[in-house]
Amino acid sequence: MSTLSISRSLCGVIVLALLPSLLPAVNMVTVDAAKVKCAASPTLWGIFFEDIDLSMDGGVYAELIRNRSFEDGAGNSKDGLAFWSGLGKPGTSELSLDTTLPLSAKNSHALKVVARPGGGVANAGYFGISSRAGAEYRLSLAVRGDVEGPLEVGFDYHARKGAAAIAAQIGNITTNWQTRTLTFRAPFDYPNAEFVIRAPKGGTFYLDCVSLFPSETYGTSGLFRKDLMTKLAGLRPAFVRFPGGCWVEGDTMDKAYRWKKTIGSVWERPTQWNIWGYWATHGVGFHEYLLLCEELHAEPLFCINVGMSHKENVPLDKMGEFVQDALDAVEYANGPVTSKWGAVRAAAGHPAPFNLKYIEIGNENWGKAYEERYPLLHDALRARYPEVRLIANNFHGTIITNRPVDLQDEHYYTDPDWMMGEGSHKYDNASRAPGDRHVFVGEYAVTRDVGPWGSLRAAIGEAAFMVGMERNSDVVELAAYAPLFANVNHLHWTPNLISVSSDGCVVNPSYDVQRLFAENAGAKILACEVAAPFAADVRKGKDGRPIAALAADAVETADGKEIIVKVVNVSGAPVAGTVTVKNAKPAMTARKIAFTGPAAGAANSFTEPARCGVTESMAAVKDGVVTETFAPFSLTILRFGR
Ligand code: AHR
Repeated sequence: MSTLSISRSLCGVIVLALLPSLLPAVNMVTVDAAKVKCAASPTLWGIFFEDIDLSMDGGVYAELIRNRSFEDGAGNSKDGLAFWSGLGKPGTSELSLDTTLPLSAKNSHALKVVARPGGGVANAGYFGISSRAGAEYRLSLAVRGDVEGPLEVGFDYHARKGAAAIAAQIGNITTNWQTRTLTFRAPFDYPNAEFVIRAPKGGTFYLDCVSLFPSETYGTSGLFRKDLMTKLAGLRPAFVRFPGGCWVEGDTMDKAYRWKKTIGSVWERPTQWNIWGYWATHGVGFHEYLLLCEELHAEPLFCINVGMSHKENVPLDKMGEFVQDALDAVEYANGPVTSKWGAVRAAAGHPAPFNLKYIEIGNENWGKAYEERYPLLHDALRARYPEVRLIANNFHGTIITNRPVDLQDEHYYTDPDWMMGEGSHKYDNASRAPGDRHVFVGEYAVTRDVGPWGSLRAAIGEAAFMVGMERNSDVVELAAYAPLFANVNHLHWTPNLISVSSDGCVVNPSYDVQRLFAENAGAKILACEVAAPFAADVRKGKDGRPIAALAADAVETADGKEIIVKVVNVSGAPVAGTVTVKNAKPAMTARKIAFTGPAAGAANSFTEPARCGVTESMAAVKDGVVTETFAPFSLTILRFGR
């Protein structure tokens, strides 16, 4: 032991200044199964779903047609015709926005197509439409016109075949609007098809509300893309925070998210400019977000605008409408069908309440303006719905102190080194006085020193932060990585947990870390001491302390049958040592689940989707001890049965 120098004790971590290779038998992690630190938060791991970078429209929302009701830009002809193009050579198909016979006052623009024989119109969807050979598609549209014979619909594979593959016909077109629905099957696999409607014999026709969904979707709502929702379900989210983010605030108040504009007939919901650079349909509005939570068996957590946008605030004497919106949102979600808003929910097909338990008042709002507006929503909600937990922002140094706060939302976008050091111990010494507010880490991710597709080292930094949150889940009650999704063709923010194309997705290395924490949660947090060498390659924190190479925590499962130890090696060198479980009589083997990758900067891609990945094996246990070499930049989970 003479070569070991115990340099300091840091929040339960004893850091040993020694080369890892000299420490093969040193006990690195000691769990005391007889010492329960606290109950684990059953809602700790959730997700944050913002419609950012076409993650909802063009992402999880399975609608394939873009600008489907010609309301993008609300009358601005450039936007109103966007994503639609005429078929054939110039002069074959003339397209214009038409307002002569609107479907309704709230849907005032239609598309007029003047077609020579074979002319018509194509929609490119969200960077191409995924055509799956043999798969069925559901089309609905409003149509009127004066055409000879039926219209033809199908996919155009022009880059593939040079011609459209017509799948169905729509006959008996009249000069009055008709809504027509039909299904057809796609003949080919092709990721970038266009949807076409053409008049083989020519004529003039008008279209509105053109909607195309794959028949196969996730769950029962028929709304959500199966592959993407399956990825979300894999995260076992306890809650879903929605719908933003900056999308809640908007740049100006007229672009802020107002839930009442997102309910009712999807064809009468106004399209809205999304701060992340596109027109949003609100096809997934407040009601459908609640359905999404239900389909994921997750608690909804609604973040509501508090009368503040990025550039302007609602005057205090005009805040009544915002207070009412908050009260009505809860009534919509939870009220009896006899209540005003409960009846609207029932009419939308969901008589049972959604059981909304969390409302966040504002997103990343701060300063005097927030301190003045927060109490208005808080007081009204608290008085009418004392059972709903209220969440305040903690942003730019503003902490709400003029009202009691159930949960405080903190956001961390930072570098891996912070997460590995300071971040991992951030909550170790947090106050635990009775009545103290709990923490909601509503957004976190490594966003510095990382490429657009994430990296192994970033994921490992987040894992170190997560063991710290889990260890302190009597303080940190909820946490969510951000952002969740982005369409790869519309990236305003990177990295994202899941990158989406028209016909697939790829997860960044952080996804596996998120998934593994959710899969390996427990009911009780056990005492866990770490004694590890310094990680020479991790930048010291503000206090100048060196960072330990290992971060760890331990939980016991609800049935008491397993102890799960998570060990994160944040350094670029292997660390050899033992993990000991005291006072537990564990079985002779432990299940070992290990996540790592080939290099610090390794990321996944569509061509190499699993450069970083998970392996499973069994580890020998002798007298409660496992001897292990923790790979560089790795998360190792040991499940000790007993
Ligand atoms: O997650 C991306 C953005 O980061 C969110 O919209 C916002 O809340 C934060 O600034």
